Amino acid sequence: MLPGSLLTGAIVALFSAGVSATPQFGGSGSQEQNQGEDGSGGNTFESSPSTSTYAATTIAYTATALAATSSSTDTSTACNNSPDLCDRAYNNITHMGAHDSSFLRDDSTDDSVAGNQFYNATYALEAGLRLLQAQVHVENGTLELCHTTCSLLDAGPLADWLALIRVWMDDNPNEVVSLVLVNSDDADVADIAAAFETAGLDSYGYTPATTEATGDWPTLRTMIEANTRLVSFIASITYDSTYPYLLPEFAYVFETAFEVLSLSGFNCTLDRPSSLTDDGYATAISSNYMPMLNHFAYKTLISSVMIPDVDDIETTNSDDTSTTGALGTHADGCTSEWGVKPVLVLVDFFDQGDVMAVADSLNGISNAVGRSTDFEDGGSTSGATGKFDVGTGVALVTFLAAALFMF
Ligand SMILES: *[C@@H]1O[C@H](CO)[C@@H](O)[C@H](O)[C@H]1NC(C)=O
Ligand SMILES: *[C@@H]1O[C@H](CO)[C@@H](O)[C@H](O)[C@H]1NC(C)=O
Ligand SMILES: *[C@@H]1O[C@H](CO)[C@@H](O)[C@H](O)[C@H]1NC(C)=O
Ligand SMILES: *[C@@H]1O[C@H](CO)[C@@H](O)[C@H](O)[C@H]1NC(C)=O
Repeated sequence: MLPGSLLTGAIVALFSAGVSATPQFGGSGSQEQNQGEDGSGGNTFESSPSTSTYAATTIAYTATALAATSSSTDTSTACNNSPDLCDRAYNNITHMGAHDSSFLRDDSTDDSVAGNQFYNATYALEAGLRLLQAQVHVENGTLELCHTTCSLLDAGPLADWLALIRVWMDDNPNEVVSLVLVNSDDADVADIAAAFETAGLDSYGYTPATTEATGDWPTLRTMIEANTRLVSFIASITYDSTYPYLLPEFAYVFETAFEVLSLSGFNCTLDRPSSLTDDGYATAISSNYMPMLNHFAYKTLISSVMIPDVDDIETTNSDDTSTTGALGTHADGCTSEWGVKPVLVLVDFFDQGDVMAVADSLNGISNAVGRSTDFEDGGSTSGATGKFDVGTGVALVTFLAAALFMF
């Protein structure tokens, strides 16, 4: 944490902002360029709306809310940390997720302000999150996990990261994991598939019954028994039947806004796919699109430079259901507005606040087992004094801002 390295980071950050059309370090900026509308995806947005499903799902949600905590299945077996989830369909579960899960604010990045998480994806899985999001760039012909640009934050090859996810999945055979990968440089589907194959993760890939939004998702138990326990959404790719488990995200999922600049800025409006923005979420839901709640905020570092807002993180990630900007409030609000629960949720700094309490509440469970938040001595974060101390981040940001003004 020498001032010198911070200044280098700041200069790189400023430079990136200057040359980029989307001066935003949150990592989602390039998602915008990669939505299906831009022709990069070739996604199938057209689906025949099934109006009956909307009513059925609404009833399902009511039932879930009333289900309380009774355990009807074999309690010796938990699926995604709870026996109550084994016989629940994938799209009838809220999967809590780490946004930009490969971009860390820790020792490995000299506490980069471009980092969205204090702990890596393995720790996220250990803590009970079951959705991991990241950004893929093409750097020197290799697929790398980079944040906005590889000069700003390069978290290494995609295949290496996927291999670590595979290790965790090998060790945890009762867990269904989801990925959302942003294909920032429009890499070919075959190249992305090659990374999955190198990592040995392709065999876990789940292939839905149809290539468009469907209400027909299997239960976790079915996916676990078939050992097809990985749901891989890519934004965006051209669907290729050779790699049917690589799913164009916006053929199945709709999202709320990802560029929120204040805690009062969260809402439930459909932001993407843009093909559905005119019709809105009601059409998406009746067409079986699964809702993804983006719940992370940015703050302005300097002029148009935005960084993940860690200052307000205790509020942002709170399970409180009455505080403006709290995850609990946002999730509850959208559940009532949509008539269905979010299926996918993304948060920054997952260890802060109580994001799993929100997931458990939405899932109607109170018997979670097998989670661990004991990662104080974890390798990539070891020695990071004050890693739980949000104040350190504040000081860092203040310092960076001052340094930038001085140049
Ligand atoms: C969703 O899960 C709840 C709780 O287990 C269940 O009551 C409901 O029938 C499920 N809905 C669907 C559509 O399967
Ligand atoms: C890509 O090549 C450039 C120029 O040789 C180099 O600076 C950079 O480190 C390379 N990136 C990776 C990820 O290997
Ligand atoms: C929803 O929130 C986003 C981000 O704060 C904002 O850009 C958008 O205008 C909001 N939509 C509505 C309908 O308020
Ligand atoms: C996270 O860090 C731990 C401790 O160093 C390491 O064992 C694990 O492989 C890392 N996982 C990822 C995805 O980087």
